[in-house]
Amino acid sequence: MTQPILPVNVQFVSTFKEVFNEDYRTIIFHGGRGSGKSYHVALGLLLRGRKRRLRILCTREIQNTIKDSVHKLLKDIITRYGFADYTLTENSVINSITGTEFIFKGLKHNINEIKSTEGIDIAWVEEAQSISEDSLKILVPTIRKPGSQLIYTFNRVNELDPVYVRYCITVPPKTYVKKVNYDTLDKVGLFPEELRLEMEQDRQNPETYAHIWLGEPIGQAEMSIISRTETLEAMQRAIPDDGMEEIGVDVARMGNDRTVFWLRRGLKTIRYRVHEKLRTTQVCDALERFAHHKKDVPLKIDDTGVGGGVTDEMLKRGYNVVAVNFGGEAMDKDKYPNWISEAWFHMSQIMPEAELPYNSDLLMELTTRQWGQDNKGKRRVESKGDYKKRGFRSPDIADACIICYAPVHVDGFLQWAKMRADASAKPDTTFKPQLR
Ligand SMILES: Nc1ncnc2c1ncn2[C@@H]1O[C@H](COP(=O)(O)OP(=O)(O)OP(=O)(O)O)[C@@H](O)[C@H]1O
Ligand SMILES: [Mg+2]
Repeated sequence: MTQPILPVNVQFVSTFKEVFNEDYRTIIFHGGRGSGKSYHVALGLLLRGRKRRLRILCTREIQNTIKDSVHKLLKDIITRYGFADYTLTENSVINSITGTEFIFKGLKHNINEIKSTEGIDIAWVEEAQSISEDSLKILVPTIRKPGSQLIYTFNRVNELDPVYVRYCITVPPKTYVKKVNYDTLDKVGLFPEELRLEMEQDRQNPETYAHIWLGEPIGQAEMSIISRTETLEAMQRAIPDDGMEEIGVDVARMGNDRTVFWLRRGLKTIRYRVHEKLRTTQVCDALERFAHHKKDVPLKIDDTGVGGGVTDEMLKRGYNVVAVNFGGEAMDKDKYPNWISEAWFHMSQIMPEAELPYNSDLLMELTTRQWGQDNKGKRRVESKGDYKKRGFRSPDIADACIICYAPVHVDGFLQWAKMRADASAKPDTTFKPQLR
């Protein structure tokens, strides 16, 4: 379905145009406050309901009274644009020409009633971050009319909100997921000034700001190696880029994994690139471009598994390759059982000084990885298998970043940046990377 011809006084931000797309089974808009999620879904559904008869369920986890629902939002939009074909009753909205009907019900206490409601074309779930796994399991098969759709709007609260796990970590077929923030409205001059004032106040506190305005989950997961607050601060920091360049590479090993390149200068990230489904030679070609063909820049490549092919090929092409082995020895063997554990703790130590780009996946991957102690009391990073079992996807972006920031071999031994007072600003000029 194409976007309908809009009434002249309506401004519909194109970021939300998929609201009109009938081919998706599931449509998701999530993100921070004042990004226009609720407004555009409400407006889009009102416009769709003018074209043909639709039965639309507006739901949320708990709706004690109609005041908790989007009834008022629909009413405001109808009044604002003078949609005279819509009639409002106390607890429904009906189009007198097409027969479209909006109904409002909470999921938790009315699931049987919802199940027995015939012929729902669209279910719009507002504040979907609070939908329980149980409610989702019942709701989804209940919306079963051929061509029926589910639309979810939300702002994440936890890293693993059930709706996020089900649709956003790996996106299922026929699903559209769009992250939106206030800039969506700001770019077209629709971001309300009252909200801007509120936002400027919240900027004082990076955690609050990231949750409310950037749509990031709240709070620190227990036992995480890297602090969320410090990572968020690193994502807002600007430091000079006068250090030495280093590149970290994590190579995909399975179909859904991503190949990620990361470049820093001192402690400042300069650029990064995420690729999907590349063959080894394509990875190498892309990597040469990413490195701007500079052969002296240390290229730290995860050498285990598929990465080995990339290491060999880049060596052949004359690059300054440092093969990294996650399971290899740590520099401080008393504290860490392997290289990658030490690299994670190193990242956490330099975080208060580093500059990282703001990237939602990076934030999640860096700050949810847990640590534990092995039987010798050494600190080790949670295994990838365990991490994925908790519901996360392969942390490829964090891996590339961690590799990039990990110290490299200098004069034959691993020189950890933390051992140098100002590792970031003054590169070690005696640097001679160790080749395999
Ligand atoms: N196309 C538009 N035309 C006019 N006003 C708009 C438009 N889109 C959004 N707004 C205004 O911007 C404000 C924020 O939009 P909206 O409430 O949809 O944000 P939201 O993403 O749902 O935020 P929250 O997460 O707080 O619920 C609303 O008050 C709305 O009036
Ligand atoms: Mg909203």
